[in-house]
Amino acid sequence: MIKQIIRFKTVVSTQDTAKRFVSQNKELAISSLHQKKGRGRQGRTWYSPAGGLYVSLLLFPRTQLSSIPMLASLAVVKVLEDYGFSRISIHWPNDVLLNQKKVSGIICEQFKNAIICGIGLNVNNDDFSPRLENATSLKIDAGKTFDIDEILSHFIGKFNPLYNELQSLGIKVKEVLNYIDSIGEPVEVVTSKGVIRGSVYDIDDDWALLLRDETGMIRKFYYGDVRKLRW
Ligand code: BTN
Repeated sequence: MIKQIIRFKTVVSTQDTAKRFVSQNKELAISSLHQKKGRGRQGRTWYSPAGGLYVSLLLFPRTQLSSIPMLASLAVVKVLEDYGFSRISIHWPNDVLLNQKKVSGIICEQFKNAIICGIGLNVNNDDFSPRLENATSLKIDAGKTFDIDEILSHFIGKFNPLYNELQSLGIKVKEVLNYIDSIGEPVEVVTSKGVIRGSVYDIDDDWALLLRDETGMIRKFYYGDVRKLRW
């Protein structure tokens, strides 16, 4: 359970800053107003100017490690709902979309005995990395600015009970399935081994994507980029 938020003005990446605290064996959050070199999944850069929310959760989960990214996505969804946003969905594996545009990205990395779960949320951002064509921010969607620190506290308030439930009861949080955006839809999954077309069949208990490929076979993916073939 996250009991402390350590705030920085600028860091290279909150993911790396969090590593410095691992030896303390305490679950906490590291946030920064800006990152010089924010990291995205699959070696990508997460453009991190002031105006966005950048936080890494340092966690020492006992069970269900693979569910942590899903919990973080669900906590972001719950925050957005509380702030009155609608048309929120989760694009597997860990993107949160607002009106079909990416508003948040999540990366979870294992370091020693810890999981460092990094969340980037576009809050008051007006511009995005040029390669992120399909992005939005809370400001763009709502037409007003938000208090980033208040959103951060709210996020921790949503994450903690989900995390406690998972750790104490070991249950899978099925609620997340309500928000998955592409069940039944035609997609292609891009992995380092190639591109596979099919339709999304389900999300498994371990957060893997189940795809029915063009031959009808169900295939399981733990990583990859999902591109919708029909929006
Ligand atoms: C993605 O969509 O590729 C994941 C993006 C994750 C970005 C966050 S911002 C806070 C934390 N620090 C980083 O360097 N990356 C994550």
